[in-house]
Amino acid sequence: MKIVTFSAIKGGVGKTTLAYNYGEWLAKSGKNVLFIDLDHQCNLSQIYDIYDNEETVGNIFKGSGRVKIHEISDKVSLISGDMRLDAIERDIENKTNKNMLLYLWFADNYERVNLEQYDFIIIDTHPDFSTATKNALIVSNSIISPITPSEHGYNAKFNLEERVKDLKIEAIDYNTRKSYFTANLYYVANMVKHNTSSSRQLLEALKDEDNVVAVIPEKELFNRTTLDKKSIADLKLDTKVYQKQKKFFDDIAKSFDIISEKI
Ligand SMILES: Nc1ncnc2c1ncn2[C@@H]1O[C@H](COP(=O)(O)OP(=O)(O)OP(=O)(O)O)[C@@H](O)[C@H]1O
Ligand SMILES: [Mg+2]
Repeated sequence: MKIVTFSAIKGGVGKTTLAYNYGEWLAKSGKNVLFIDLDHQCNLSQIYDIYDNEETVGNIFKGSGRVKIHEISDKVSLISGDMRLDAIERDIENKTNKNMLLYLWFADNYERVNLEQYDFIIIDTHPDFSTATKNALIVSNSIISPITPSEHGYNAKFNLEERVKDLKIEAIDYNTRKSYFTANLYYVANMVKHNTSSSRQLLEALKDEDNVVAVIPEKELFNRTTLDKKSIADLKLDTKVYQKQKKFFDDIAKSFDIISEKI
């Protein structure tokens, strides 16, 4: 089982869109996927028409109450986000184990919810480095961070790397001196346009980085996936749609395959 978190300090860079489409892609290729929505905006839950107020991720952080795993389809499950997660985070601010609550929930519920049945756990996060995000990063094998072509897009990379470095130290086990944080950090250049100077600058800045796993173009079809609640993997099954945009679908397939190889 692999745990992958989509995280970026900058908002609107495509965390949810990529998490959703990549997770659905994995599911279509036969993998069993559990999504966990750790963003109190609950965008990922909303794609699946889930608007829960109870038995959400909130209970993982409160440390009490049931947590419901929605079976969306044969291969896709989801733990709903909680619109009050930001308030819950403030409530637990003074707890010494506040960054380890998801780790502990996994450990305590591993057998009961049979976490081993999932090939991938995909976590979506709020655009910040809050307690919930830190919890996600600590349990992850890989972090995927989208970067977009914009004035501050590339700088966001350094900002995240600095915080990840600090978290690695913060999440140390005092007995063994080893960090609970072991995830590798990867980048996806997202919403890359043809022939704009900001896109060219971003690609130039990233060209020598070996942890950039994909370049995803800006494409209305991709934008529509979350609005229409139909993933790239679903759309590809429609031969008419596929034939019209064959290159785009083939490029995305290649990118998602490379991500799976690397992470
Ligand atoms: N490659 C793309 N091409 C076109 N539109 C895209 C692409 N990726 C994301 N978008 C669109 O950009 C907007 C922001 O994406 P998304 O909500 O996934 O970002 P986010 O990082 O999760 O935002 P937040 O920080 O608010 O959680 C959405 O409208 C989405 O459909
Ligand atoms: Mg989002």
